[in-house]
Amino acid sequence: MDNVIGRVLISEEQLQARIRELGEIITKDYQDKELVMVCILRGSVLFFSDLARRIDVPMIMDFMSLSSYEGGTSSTGRVRIIQDLNENVEGRDVLIVEDIVDSGLTLHNILNVLNSRNPNSIKVCSLLDKPHERKKDLNIDYVGFTIENEFVLGYGLDYKQKYRNVPFVGVINPDYI
Ligand code: IMP
Ligand code: MG
Repeated sequence: MDNVIGRVLISEEQLQARIRELGEIITKDYQDKELVMVCILRGSVLFFSDLARRIDVPMIMDFMSLSSYEGGTSSTGRVRIIQDLNENVEGRDVLIVEDIVDSGLTLHNILNVLNSRNPNSIKVCSLLDKPHERKKDLNIDYVGFTIENEFVLGYGLDYKQKYRNVPFVGVINPDYI
């Protein structure tokens, strides 16, 4: 995968071990709930599909696509809905699955949109939490890993739309940015 990856930050084994733990916690929390698990495309697609397999309650899967980055490595602050959910979430228990929360602008917008649809509950599960540049005060209910303020890629996360298929989370080689 050329030399875009500076170093491995979270290995495949570490990812799967943590996802197993998250799945067990979420399974306990969503007994007797109407779980709608929302995949925020495209970054959380690998995490979402691995996590869903570790959650042992009936669920509906749905997908939403937003854009906050315009292809670089820092947030522009602009968030656009590109593809909305198919399901009506009113009265249901929504679990938003994100790849990473950085400034928090994307998640803040998603929460505003979905809260206005009167779900019974909304929680957030993010694989990665990068709190250093947080611009919105947010509660993330389930966090995989808290990381430093570095640009990461792989396991769904892209750099200029590539490298999502890297099976681990890596830190970008600084020569690339
Ligand atoms: P936020 O709106 O600043 O919280 O950014 C959220 C979105 O930015 C994530 O869903 C990612 O798509 C992207 N993002 C933030 N940090 C990184 C990173 O280190 N690598 C790749 N994408 C990132
Ligand atoms: Mg994303």
